[in-house]
Amino acid sequence: MPQPHLRTVVVLAAGEGKRMKSALPKVLHPLLGRTLLGHVLTAAAPLAADRTVVVVGHGAEQVRAHLTEIAPDATPVLQAQQLGTGHAVRIALEAVPEASGTVVVINGDVPLLRAETVAALVAAHEGEGAAATVLAAEVPDPTGLGRIVRDAAGRLEQIVEERDATPAQRALREINAGIYAFDAVRLRDALGKLSTDNDQGEEYLTDVFGLLVSAGEPVGVHVAADHVETLGCNDRVELAGLRRLLRDRINEAWMRTGVSILDPDTTWIDVTATVERDAVIDQNTQLRGTTVVGAQAVVGPDVTLIDTVVGAAATVLRSHAVGAEVGPGASVGPYAYLRPAARLAEKSKVGTFVEVKNSEVGPGAKVPHLSYVGDATIGAKANIGAATIFVNYDGVNKHRTVVGEAAFIGCDTSLIAPVEVGAGAYVAAGSAISQDVPPGALGVTRAPQRSIEGWVARKRAGTVSAAAAERALAEGASAGGPVAREGEAIHGDAETVGRPSTAGDTATE
Ligand code: UD1
Ligand code: MG
Repeated sequence: MPQPHLRTVVVLAAGEGKRMKSALPKVLHPLLGRTLLGHVLTAAAPLAADRTVVVVGHGAEQVRAHLTEIAPDATPVLQAQQLGTGHAVRIALEAVPEASGTVVVINGDVPLLRAETVAALVAAHEGEGAAATVLAAEVPDPTGLGRIVRDAAGRLEQIVEERDATPAQRALREINAGIYAFDAVRLRDALGKLSTDNDQGEEYLTDVFGLLVSAGEPVGVHVAADHVETLGCNDRVELAGLRRLLRDRINEAWMRTGVSILDPDTTWIDVTATVERDAVIDQNTQLRGTTVVGAQAVVGPDVTLIDTVVGAAATVLRSHAVGAEVGPGASVGPYAYLRPAARLAEKSKVGTFVEVKNSEVGPGAKVPHLSYVGDATIGAKANIGAATIFVNYDGVNKHRTVVGEAAFIGCDTSLIAPVEVGAGAYVAAGSAISQDVPPGALGVTRAPQRSIEGWVARKRAGTVSAAAAERALAEGASAGGPVAREGEAIHGDAETVGRPSTAGDTATE
């Protein structure tokens, strides 16, 4: 004999959600880090139910696949035809014949429901020894919802769907939230007696209450402290409204723990993200997935972080990051793109129009401008000049580049992987490096410069350039630097690029 289950959770998620007008089943729509179904399962989790059954129907395969990811212990049960909420619970209980004790039923589309509220409902129900207890709420607009009908003494008489209600019942603003606790035995019994004698010709779970009352069984109403928690989701306008409400709840909670949120209306933090004390979140910022923002970090404005960890006191400005790590005190942006496995060590810098993927940027290393860093390891304190490209892809395979500690890469360099630049080495600006540069060496691949005097006058006569050149030459101006002629010493050239002023173009620092 299997042990009897003392608590069973049943989530109703077979409906289509027609008004969502979506290929995605309604319960799979996302809302700040979880699907609607994910939120409901999270609210039910602390009940520590012996068994969680999810009734699936529309989009059953998609819902099942999602459950495998987020709640592998839950049991999906197929309701092939949606014959009503009562029918759905009946089918669910057939799958758990050993269920006894309390059965908690939750509509799959009430994502703002809090775990504390479900727990309070169950505690009230179990404490009273009730046959059934419904979560109710007083709402400003009860349109479309089932009404709680009480007798003169204030005891629950029945729950009436709006379409079956009398005008007097319709005027009631106390509604059924679609969240219930039942005694398993009495629920099973009542479910067997449901009729389909209603406007929709469906088996209504709500009719269980009227049946129990008629049989003289004790039923209860637990009124939610905050009706917002009971809001359902039927279309995308409601979904957007729920998203704003949840955003405000999340932001308020973080602010109360010591996080500064400068513009709560434009700050969207997933329920799964974490922000530490004294972090500052500036406007237009989204913290999604498993993102963690460390203490005293400054994130935003205009930042999206997905599954990204930002260390203490780091700054991220107008940037997008996915699956990245930003070390303590590091600086990112404006306009950086950090892709999966971009790991920025302590006090490193990834600046403007820089993309980093699957690479380590060492402690204190800098990639300040206009660069692509892919499949690279950059040593501590290395300096990567503007417009450096880590050429990682040969069209078939990806290769790694290693830049040693305190190496200095001149601007507009291609580092053609696999290649290694040793510690303390320099690379001259404009080089295409495909062979290793030993530690302390200068790598340079530049062709010597030629300046062909008088070329503009001959080839571009009549242009503004030609006119400007003519004036300058008439004034006796020099050409603005050494004019190399063909055949002149190349080594001088290399010496020149070896100087930091031109090599790294620290001009870009
Ligand atoms: C239901 C309640 C109503 C309550 C409202 C709260 C009934 C008869 N009415 O109405 O009193 O105020 O919720 O939101 O229960 N579902 C199935 N299988 C079915 C039918 C529905 O799994 O055959 C699921 C839906 O996917 C949904 C939930 O049950 O998650 C509720 O169904 P829905 O059709 O939205 O019921 P409402 O008309 O909103
Ligand atoms: Mg509904």
